[in-house]
Amino acid sequence: MPLWSGRFSEASDPLFKRFNDSLRFDHRLLKQDIQGSIAWAAAIERAGVLESHERERIVIALAEIEKRWGGDSARIVESGAEDVHSFVEAELIRHPGVGDLGKKLHTGRSRNDQVATDLRLWVRDELDSRLAELRAAQAALLALAEREIETIIPGYTHLQRAQPILLSHWALAYFEMLDRDASRLADARRRANLCPLGSGALAGSAYPIDRAALARDLGFDAPTANSLDAVSDRDFVVESLAAAALCAVHLSRLAEDLILYTSGEFAFVELSERVTSGSSLMPQKKNPDALELIRGKVGRILGAHTALCTTIKGLPLAYNKDLQADKAPLFDAMDNLSRCLRVLPVVLEGMKIDRARCLAAAKGGYSNATDLADYLVSKGVPFREAHELAGKAVRLGLSRGQALEDLPLADLQKIDPRIQQDVFARIALEAGMAKRNLMGGTGTEAVRAALARAKGAEASSVGRKSGA
Ligand code: ARG
Repeated sequence: MPLWSGRFSEASDPLFKRFNDSLRFDHRLLKQDIQGSIAWAAAIERAGVLESHERERIVIALAEIEKRWGGDSARIVESGAEDVHSFVEAELIRHPGVGDLGKKLHTGRSRNDQVATDLRLWVRDELDSRLAELRAAQAALLALAEREIETIIPGYTHLQRAQPILLSHWALAYFEMLDRDASRLADARRRANLCPLGSGALAGSAYPIDRAALARDLGFDAPTANSLDAVSDRDFVVESLAAAALCAVHLSRLAEDLILYTSGEFAFVELSERVTSGSSLMPQKKNPDALELIRGKVGRILGAHTALCTTIKGLPLAYNKDLQADKAPLFDAMDNLSRCLRVLPVVLEGMKIDRARCLAAAKGGYSNATDLADYLVSKGVPFREAHELAGKAVRLGLSRGQALEDLPLADLQKIDPRIQQDVFARIALEAGMAKRNLMGGTGTEAVRAALARAKGAEASSVGRKSGA
């Protein structure tokens, strides 16, 4: 029997029932629904609705229901209940230690404030998990940076070799992106951590609920301020999805870099067999599937964000059943982001870097042409002119198939007589790198300092979590 059977004389059409029911996906809120119900029992005891011994019986039964059904989603779904809220209530009433007393639990509460509360509890837990996974992915990037602290690779703009950089500098670039993602997740958590319970269906509960105490019992920072907003607000889901989507975008860019680096044309990186697959037809293939999936998932996660924004866009206040469609995209996006974040460290740990090949590529492509221009600047040539002269040297090198440092001094001097023997030391790869030791640069000292800062920040964020 549905929760609303009093007013109805006809049963639901089976097609409508299937269409309307959300148990097949919202069973994932079982733990949170029980958590919320336990707090609600205390709230209505304080409001004089329940005796304390009644609350105790209800709370014991709810804990047993969680123990019995948690982790058995297939059987929960078979129950045929409309949603997780009606499932828990029906189980409570069926419980031998509670029986008809269970019918009192929903006093002053609506599924509208109930589901908003459950979902905030769920999002809070999930954001904490994503944050921990993100920190682990960052730690893997730091370990890679440490292993490859002095490995030189070509840096690219327009995917053309631009200037040499350290692979550790590359890894720390992604560390920074993930750091911003972590702060966005933490920020989303802060706004999610408010308690809608007590808002009733839309107008506020008619019982004298101590909402501050209720919020505290559930670990929320405060009660929500407006009942209409509280039951229809899904900003906390949208924000979490936006943070998840941007994080997925970053992971996708990282994956793309590495996919390029593993190709035969680059061949800077070889991936472990633990995260690659072969081809059913071509015996030689070793495909970067893990990275391609990380790159691919962003579509789904971004899609979830768009889907929910679109759903909410035209909704009149307050609760509308449309909001039931928030869960599938949220669950899917969080699950997929979690998978990406957990696979990434396995990929990074197993990477083998061909340092000689990276160095050769960094030396090729005239990526020290800027250093030649800077050399001329040091001889008093204005930069715009120096740029032109260095460009001519590149053209000469190209015509002969020679790197700048391999061109004879006499030929360089034909381009400009101010070029002297000391040019070769100044356009050597190491010299160019050593000049970039300002904060944020790719010089070895700068990168060592950045790594130390990143490790310090990481240690203090782990420290904060463990309460140290
Ligand atoms: N299953 C619903 C949801 O996920 C619960 C709230 C239902 N409220 C209602 N008035 N029908 O949104």
